Amino acid sequence: MKTRICGTGSALPARVVTNDDLSKIMDTSDAWISSRTGIRSRHLAVEETLTDLSEKAALQALEEAGIEPGDLDMILAATLSADKLLPSLSCELQSRLGAVGAVAFDINAACSGFLFALQTADVYIRCGTYRNILVVGGEILSKLMDWQDRSTCVLFGDGAGAAVVRPDEGCGILSSIQGSDGSRGEALLCENRKNNNPYVTNGTELSYVSMDGQEVYKFAVRTVPKAILDAVEKAGFAVDEIDLFLLHQANIRIIESVAKRLKVPLERFPMNLAECGNISAGSVPILLDYVNRRGMLHPGDKVVLAGFGAGLTWGASALTW
Ligand code: ACO
Repeated sequence: MKTRICGTGSALPARVVTNDDLSKIMDTSDAWISSRTGIRSRHLAVEETLTDLSEKAALQALEEAGIEPGDLDMILAATLSADKLLPSLSCELQSRLGAVGAVAFDINAACSGFLFALQTADVYIRCGTYRNILVVGGEILSKLMDWQDRSTCVLFGDGAGAAVVRPDEGCGILSSIQGSDGSRGEALLCENRKNNNPYVTNGTELSYVSMDGQEVYKFAVRTVPKAILDAVEKAGFAVDEIDLFLLHQANIRIIESVAKRLKVPLERFPMNLAECGNISAGSVPILLDYVNRRGMLHPGDKVVLAGFGAGLTWGASALTW
């Protein structure tokens, strides 16, 4: 028994902000941002909530899978920027969709979040616990940015993606790799809650996402190729047999470096980061939907999904479509 992705969906906020737009409100330029990252614009949520975007993505995924919200046994939402601390995004989504029979909880593994949620769904399905699971990854990172810090705020965008997974005897997830290294957590940090306990005198002040870009770059280019190779080998494939590599969309230079290290042509690494920026847990499912809707996935194709990010965390899954 395998876990198969039967439907995908995605939603981006209406407001598009280009690099040139950003250069009007801070000391930056399209040349700096696009040459270092590959990002040209991003969608930023002005009117939409993350629940709105996730609902839209979820409905598309359910429609393609041919099931109703009432058929869902479980909703897993990967996010670090839910609309509320309580209730979780997955519970808000359960209520919006009317998926009354679904167990719902969130997973926070930052940019690896969708991979971790998908891999969690895979275990529930292979154990026979649940059959119909909605996996969502989404972020509204714009609210967690320090808009005075040009080295981080230009990198990120908002949006949500979704996938419906079900048991299948033929195609599906063949192998998964996960990893975490909390000792390097300072490389990507966000302490965004003020401690309100009256007995605490040295509580953390509000802060925004901060990043040691070069540390994150080194981590990504060393860890991701190995995670991919391990997942591919565990699935019984050779790396040159893989049709598509769908990587977390952080930075074009990271993706180019991974392709080079794997000795795979860059054409097999579809990207949408030029228009979307880095959407953390949303980036892999949004890209998955992007390639699915453009007919770039064919039955039986060998596909690798890979995420990496704060924690530090990383994950890769090899599957047949
Ligand atoms: N516009 C113009 N200049 C800028 C900007 C900006 N938006 N941001 C920083 N600069 C300046 C800096 O102030 C610095 O100026 P100085 O030399 O006068 O001090 C100069 O550009 C170089 O700054 P660095 O931070 O050293 O820039 P670097 O070349 O390392 O590029 C980047 C930064 C793109 C983030 C790079 O480190 C990188 O690719 N990191 C990979 C990590 C990544 O992409 N993270 C994304 C999120 S994490 C994740 O998803 C896992």
